[in-house]
Amino acid sequence: MTEVTGAPADVLHTLFHSDQGGHEQVVLCQDRASGLKAVIALHSTALGPALGGTRFYPYASEQEAVADALNLARGMSYKNALAGLDHGGGKAVIIGDPEQIKSEELLLAYGRFVASLGGRYVTACDVGTYVADMDVVARECRWTTGRSPENGGAGDSSVLTAFGVFQGMRASAQHLWGDPTLRGRKVGVSGVGKVGHHLVDHLREDGAEVVITDVRAESVQRILDRHPEGVTAVADTETLIRTEGLDIYAPCALGGALNDETVPVLTARIVCGAANNQLAHPGVEKDLADRGILYAPDYVVNAGGVIQVADELHGFDFDRCKAKATKIFDTTLAIFARAKQDGIPPAAAADRIAEQRMAEARGR
Ligand SMILES: NC(=O)c1ccc[n+]([C@@H]2O[C@H](COP(=O)([O-])OP(=O)(O)OC[C@H]3O[C@@H](n4cnc5c(N)ncnc54)[C@H](O)[C@@H]3O)[C@@H](O)[C@H]2O)c1
Repeated sequence: MTEVTGAPADVLHTLFHSDQGGHEQVVLCQDRASGLKAVIALHSTALGPALGGTRFYPYASEQEAVADALNLARGMSYKNALAGLDHGGGKAVIIGDPEQIKSEELLLAYGRFVASLGGRYVTACDVGTYVADMDVVARECRWTTGRSPENGGAGDSSVLTAFGVFQGMRASAQHLWGDPTLRGRKVGVSGVGKVGHHLVDHLREDGAEVVITDVRAESVQRILDRHPEGVTAVADTETLIRTEGLDIYAPCALGGALNDETVPVLTARIVCGAANNQLAHPGVEKDLADRGILYAPDYVVNAGGVIQVADELHGFDFDRCKAKATKIFDTTLAIFARAKQDGIPPAAAADRIAEQRMAEARGR
C-alpha cells in the first residue's frame, strides 16, 4: 500500500484518480466552540460499516491530517477484510494536542459528527484516545466501541491482540519448520507493554525461550519478576535483533521496526509482532524475503484488537472473540501459501487476499 502525501492538490488527486485513493467519503468536521477539527475518512463499506479508531494528534498541518486519515482508513479496510469481519475500513483524526485541547465538550461534538453518519462509520480508540474518551463520545453516538465494561464496552484490547500475534507466530513456525509449537524456540520481544507482556506469557506457556527489551526499565523488571525462568533481558532493540540463535523477532513497540538498518542484521528467521506499520517503506518486504526471513504481516496478526471492538457492537463475548482471533492462525497460513503460489512477499499476498474479499463483496 503506497502512502498518500500531504499537499492539498495531491490529496484530492489521490482521492479521485489514483489506486491509493478511491475512498467512498471524507468528512471534514469543525466545532469552533470546542476547538474540534476532525477528518473522518471512509475508505470502503463494501463489507459493512466502516470501522476504525480515532487518532488525536498534533499534526503539523491540516493537509497532513487528511493524508493520515486517508492512509489509516485504507489500512483498516485491509485489516478488517482479513480479520474476517463484516466491516469496511474507516478512520478519524482529531487535529491538535490532546494534552492541550481534549475536553468533554470537544469529544461530545465529535460524537455528534460520527452519529451524523448514521452508522456508516463505527469509531474506537487509537493513538491519543482512550476508553474513558470513548465513554464520552458514546453519550452522543451509538456507533462507538472501545468503551469501558461499565458502559457496555470490552475495555483493554491488548489481551486478544497478544493472543492473535501468538497465533500468527504459531502459523509462521508451522510454515517454516512444519510444526506450530514454539517449544525450544528463541523469541525476541521488543516492547513489553500492554501487548508484549501478554505475548511473553503465551510464549513461556508454550515452552519458548524469550529475550526481551524495553526502554522502560520497570516494564522489563515486571516481566523478569513474573517469569523467573526462561526470560532474559538485553539492553536495547539493536542488541535484541542481533541475538545469536534468535528464531523469531516480535516487534511490539513502535512502527518502522523493519528498515534498511535493521533488516540486514536480523538473526531471526521469522518476524511476527504486534506493532503497527512495521515496514518502514515499500520494498522492505522484498528485502526480508531476499534474506529468507518470513514476515507475518503486522495488520493480519495484530487484528485481535479490532476483532474485540467489532464484537462490542453485538454485546461483547470474550469466548466468541477468542474463537475469531484463533482464526488468525489459518489466515496467516493462507497468506504464506498465496505468497508462495504467486511468487510474491507475504505482505503483498495479504493485500491481494483482502482486495479479493472486498471485490467479491462489491460484486454481490
Ligand atoms: N493494544 C492493542 O490492542 C494493539 C492492537 C493492534 C496493534 N497494536 C500495536 O502494538 C504495539 C504495542 O502496543 P501496546 O498497546 O502494547 O503499547 P504500549 O505503549 O503498552 O507498549 C509499548 C511498549 O514499547 C516500549 N517501547 C517504546 N519504544 C521502545 C523502543 N525503542 N525499544 C523497546 N521498547 C520500546 C514502551 O516502553 C512500552 O512498554 C503498538 O505499535 C500498537 O500500535 C496494539
